[in-house]
Amino acid sequence: MTKNKVFIETYGCQMNLADTEVVLGILQKNGFDSAKNIDDADVILLNTCSIRDNAEQRIYGRLGNLKAKKWEKKNLVIGILGCMAERLRSDLIDEKKLVDLVVGPDEYRRLPEFIDNALGGEKGIGVKLSKTETYDDIIPYREDGLQAWISVMRGCDKFCSFCVVPFTRGRERSRGLDSILNEIKQLSTRGFREVTLLGQNVNSYLDGNNDFADLLSAAAKIDKSLRVRFTTSHPQDLSDKLLETIAANKNICNYIHLPVQSGSNRILELMNRTYSIEHYLNLIEKARKIIPGVSFSTDIISGFPSETFEDHLATLDVMQKVRFDGAYMFKYSPREGTKAFRLNDDVDEETKSKRLQEIISLQQSISNEINQETIGKEEEILVEGFSRKSNDFLAGRTDSNKVVVFPLIDGIEEGDYVNVKITGGTSATLFGEFISLTNKKEKSLTAIAV
Ligand code: 5AD
Ligand code: SF4
Repeated sequence: MTKNKVFIETYGCQMNLADTEVVLGILQKNGFDSAKNIDDADVILLNTCSIRDNAEQRIYGRLGNLKAKKWEKKNLVIGILGCMAERLRSDLIDEKKLVDLVVGPDEYRRLPEFIDNALGGEKGIGVKLSKTETYDDIIPYREDGLQAWISVMRGCDKFCSFCVVPFTRGRERSRGLDSILNEIKQLSTRGFREVTLLGQNVNSYLDGNNDFADLLSAAAKIDKSLRVRFTTSHPQDLSDKLLETIAANKNICNYIHLPVQSGSNRILELMNRTYSIEHYLNLIEKARKIIPGVSFSTDIISGFPSETFEDHLATLDVMQKVRFDGAYMFKYSPREGTKAFRLNDDVDEETKSKRLQEIISLQQSISNEINQETIGKEEEILVEGFSRKSNDFLAGRTDSNKVVVFPLIDGIEEGDYVNVKITGGTSATLFGEFISLTNKKEKSLTAIAV
């Protein structure tokens, strides 16, 4: 019997990318194949994001496009996974006749059953959230490659007042330490060179007595030539122990994503972020002392309810004080069900856009300055392949997550670590010259036991 083929389109954060691999792992174990091409698929699943309204609108647009495919292929199954499934539940099936199944982030084990039913013409909804589901025993499906996302915990208990995640992904729960380490060992043996440990708030990770610093430290010892990254950290929970663990392990990248959201204490309070700007700045200072050369990125929201021009200036001020290496910057988008939804969304669209533009411009000039300061320095990068623009150049990233492009060199290929001298840069990219090969990628690495 030929297997039914599934194609998954993933939207939103890295958590969703990791979930897509878990879903493919579940489906393959249950007799489905993954389709290389959307036109070969018997089942199309959209793994969706609800974080802002524009993310949801994009997915509604995509569903509209998929209508044509369903006309061409009557038995085609179309399903919604992820945060929108949880948020909109039956609406998606009722209003848009097109959708056959809606399955939320904690119900993926039941997906084979839902798909089988849908192939038989029966619609299905599974959107219960769980306090315990971590998919610990599922081996995510991954093509061979260099870089892998590993979800180490699920959900969020922070309840920032603007954020829909605690409602769409449920309560915080951590995966077992051993199963995470085993997954990393397998990836190392397959020749992967970088893993990113993922959670909405990784600093709350806890398995028995092991906290996130213990997990990171054990992960780093598996294979010294495997880079370990992690995201996202919350400023309330970033411990000294974690900072010291980063400093003590060369292959834990000196890069921390630490969302600040706003520079105004009044707005931070309304956002329920549970820290002050003074605390945040002290934390940055401390991290820079413990981890020399550490780089930071952040998330910033412009136009939160009641944000005044002074509040906005405070955000620009904190950006100048910290000098983030990079930032993800957004306009506030009211989300139903959140605490902030009850506040008046009173910063008009034009003001939100203008403030966002100022934030983006400032960040670009700071990133550009920081990049200019690296000219002349030597950096070790992990080569990831050809540069996006030309096959005459290779590209890789530094420990601090900056992209470096340099002219092609005979014998250097993806997966190699090389030293480059930085010769120039823009706000987004550094340019360099090859100096030396520091670590050649072997065909198959043998994992060192922890
Ligand atoms: N509006 C705008 N940005 C949001 N984020 C989360 N919720 C919202 C919202 N309602 C941003 C935050 C968070 C990042 C993942 O998305 O900055 O850190
Ligand atoms: Fe949302 Fe805040 Fe949790 Fe991040 S920490 S997922 S912003 S509630």
